[in-house]
Amino acid sequence: MNSDEIRDSFLQYFIEKGHKLIKSSSLIPEDDPTLLLTAAGMVQFKPYFIGEAVPPSTRMTSCQKCFRTTDIESVGDMHHLTFFEMLGNFSVGDYFKKGAINYAWEYVTERLCIDPEQLWITIFLDDDEAYECWRDIGIPADKIVRHGEKDNFWGPAGDSGPCGPCSEIYYDYGVVSGCGKDTCAPGCDCGRFLEIWNLVFMQYYQDVQGNRSLLPKTNIDTGMGLERVTAVMQGKNTFYDTDIFRPIINKVSDMCGYKYGNDEKIDRAIRIVAEHGRSISFLIGDGVIPSNDGRGYVLRRILRRAALFGKTIGIDGAFISEVARTAISLIGKVYPELLENEAFILNIVKVEEEKFSQTCTTGLNLLDVVIEKVKQSKKAVIPGVEVFKLYDTYGFPKELTAEVAAEHGLAIDERGFENEMEKQRERARASQKMGDAKKTPMIDYASMPETVFVGYKELSHKPKIIGIVVNGKFVKSASAGEQIEIILDETPFYAEKGGQVADIGVIAAKRGTIEVADVVWAKTNHVIHCGRVTEGTIEFGENVLAEVDENHRLDIARNHTATHLLQAALRCVLGEHVKQTGSFVTSERLRFDFSHFSSVKSEELLSVQRYVNEWVRRDVNVNVIEDLPIEQAKASGALAFFGEKYGDKVRVLKIGDPVISVELCGGTHLERTGQIGYFHIVSESSIGSGIRRIEAVTGKGAENLIEKRLSMLDLLAEQLGTNIVDINNRVEIILNDLDYEKQRVAQYERELSMVQIEKLLDNTKSINGVNTLGVKVPDASVDILREVGDILLKRMGSAVVVLGTIRDDKPQFVAKVSDDLIAKGFHAGNIVREVARVTGGSGGGRPEMGQAGGKDKTKIDEALQLVYSLVKKG
Ligand code: SER
Repeated sequence: MNSDEIRDSFLQYFIEKGHKLIKSSSLIPEDDPTLLLTAAGMVQFKPYFIGEAVPPSTRMTSCQKCFRTTDIESVGDMHHLTFFEMLGNFSVGDYFKKGAINYAWEYVTERLCIDPEQLWITIFLDDDEAYECWRDIGIPADKIVRHGEKDNFWGPAGDSGPCGPCSEIYYDYGVVSGCGKDTCAPGCDCGRFLEIWNLVFMQYYQDVQGNRSLLPKTNIDTGMGLERVTAVMQGKNTFYDTDIFRPIINKVSDMCGYKYGNDEKIDRAIRIVAEHGRSISFLIGDGVIPSNDGRGYVLRRILRRAALFGKTIGIDGAFISEVARTAISLIGKVYPELLENEAFILNIVKVEEEKFSQTCTTGLNLLDVVIEKVKQSKKAVIPGVEVFKLYDTYGFPKELTAEVAAEHGLAIDERGFENEMEKQRERARASQKMGDAKKTPMIDYASMPETVFVGYKELSHKPKIIGIVVNGKFVKSASAGEQIEIILDETPFYAEKGGQVADIGVIAAKRGTIEVADVVWAKTNHVIHCGRVTEGTIEFGENVLAEVDENHRLDIARNHTATHLLQAALRCVLGEHVKQTGSFVTSERLRFDFSHFSSVKSEELLSVQRYVNEWVRRDVNVNVIEDLPIEQAKASGALAFFGEKYGDKVRVLKIGDPVISVELCGGTHLERTGQIGYFHIVSESSIGSGIRRIEAVTGKGAENLIEKRLSMLDLLAEQLGTNIVDINNRVEIILNDLDYEKQRVAQYERELSMVQIEKLLDNTKSINGVNTLGVKVPDASVDILREVGDILLKRMGSAVVVLGTIRDDKPQFVAKVSDDLIAKGFHAGNIVREVARVTGGSGGGRPEMGQAGGKDKTKIDEALQLVYSLVKKG
């Protein structure tokens, strides 16, 4: 069986057993701040297990995309993966241990036809019920192994959630594949036993403090790693030898020119590049973008790890994108989001690889420095902290650092590195529990009818209060001053969703009023209105008038509709590669993030803005098509938000006819584009590799901005004594004047210093017909002395000049002699040496120029006087 057939057969088997097929959720867990990435099949079913939401069926099956950050360092061996597909069957209060065990056994032995002789079972220590179930099937007692909490108690995923004892099925590769020890049994990591299926009997809820309480019902959560079971089915010891990985391995092996299977070190690097290249594609395909924290950091880390290991086997440049391309072509038909976003994924990988090749060189340079330092200190080991720094900051795996170090005869401090790693893991564990651990009180909204949203058409509606919550508890009534959450059977209020902020407004009851400040969406399909009772009393069950603040709603709609036009305009101006990666729409402004690989030039931005405003002026219709089958919507070219999960039926927003923009969207919009008024871009910036952000305003927001800017210009004009039209001329004149003034000042300074130099000439004496000058120049450096000497000599024609100054409390001298006097035997070097000697110093030089330094600054005048006597002597 190939891997596709195994996946299909598993899902088919459970569909036959009455399970509803559920699509894999995104690797980015939806609405679950406790998790960094989806690490198990049960993640999307969590709300059902804890009774927060009602499942579409009590029996479900799925093939879930999973990513485990805890295994990154292990990837490269034969048995660890970061990304994998997990097959699972789930029961929410339906069948329990017996059902799960019987299904699993039947599937494995009758559908996959694995020889029961080669299967072993593990159970939780005291789980006699599970033990009996397995015995009933006929499993010999000596093949049922009991393990403790560490191995046979699963969950929770994250810091809290459902969990329970589990039972695993192991495949036995046979004694020859193992360590041969007497103790060798399922759980031994020698390679003989491979866990293929984990059946979790989910019956507890564990809170943040670790307290366990019974869940409302007993549930089943099972997970079978597709890659592992494929290895077993294809008679391989590792999934790297199956149809899932072999083509990727071959691709990497072609790129590096080494045959896979000859040299363990090279094989390991090949596996790392292959595995990471594949998981990178899935992460980006689900909307993860490289960054320095959270999910983006995980992506960045494995991408760098792959790049560095690629380097060790001689592949350089942007090669991971090629590996990703191969991975996508292999599995794209199972996960269409990969094919749909292929160009985007490959581009992100490429940009990040190119960026890293710069960091990589910096890292390698740093490593050189570290190696040099270690050598100089006559040590033979690179400290763990340095190894870790290279690993953590530049993504250098310790193996690579160790390799480079070995070329210099050095080792690395593995222990020290492991210590630092352990600290890092601590931090990672903390970040797995991302977000605050605070859990909203478990309110059982699920027992109430779901809220009907009528707000696409109505802004004012008369619903009934079906729930009032104060301080996390349901109450019968609330009165003035109380902060409340209120649930209505129907509501016109839009809850924050899809990047559009919530409505605000008022709910008027018979004897009281509530001001609604925020509206949130609960997974159970309930709309929770948060606000304050401003007057009187409100009561459970009474009819109210719910009124959305219309101006606020319209301001949001202006920005939301404009966001769609902005995306369309960007695609016209920059190209079809532009895709939304995020957006945030408020009543004041809009923010739009999109894929593009360089900054947007100002002409391009202007052009985008003009496109949008042209469409605004055309005042075209904005049409909504409700409940369109997703396939049909996509076929009509509707753009989907990157990484977003959509249901089978979608809402499509179409602007203009002929169509300007068509997108899947659940937000509230204008009826005509003319209502936008005016659209103005405020800023454009980069927010990560290949992702740009535009912020813009519309309607009143745009009006305010333009008014503010124009009044600034008015004020400026007034201050400059002109009007706006002439402001440019005026500024040019001022700048010219300033320039002229600057030149004049420079000229003046030059003249001034010439005057000072001239003044020095007053000390000239003609001695035996020789123009002689020995004089002090205040505040001068030796360089200035030399320059001033040149100027003086030029002015004097024929002369002996010695200049002195005090620098750093010491006298300094420069002597110059004109050519005609050199001919007569005068020597600048000799003269300056004599002069300096008076101050206890020394010096010398050539006949035309000499330089000297002294010690005693109080003797500087005396020293300079000596020049005259020296000339006199001749
Ligand atoms: N949640 C369990 C696991 O991840 C079974 O699906 O192993």
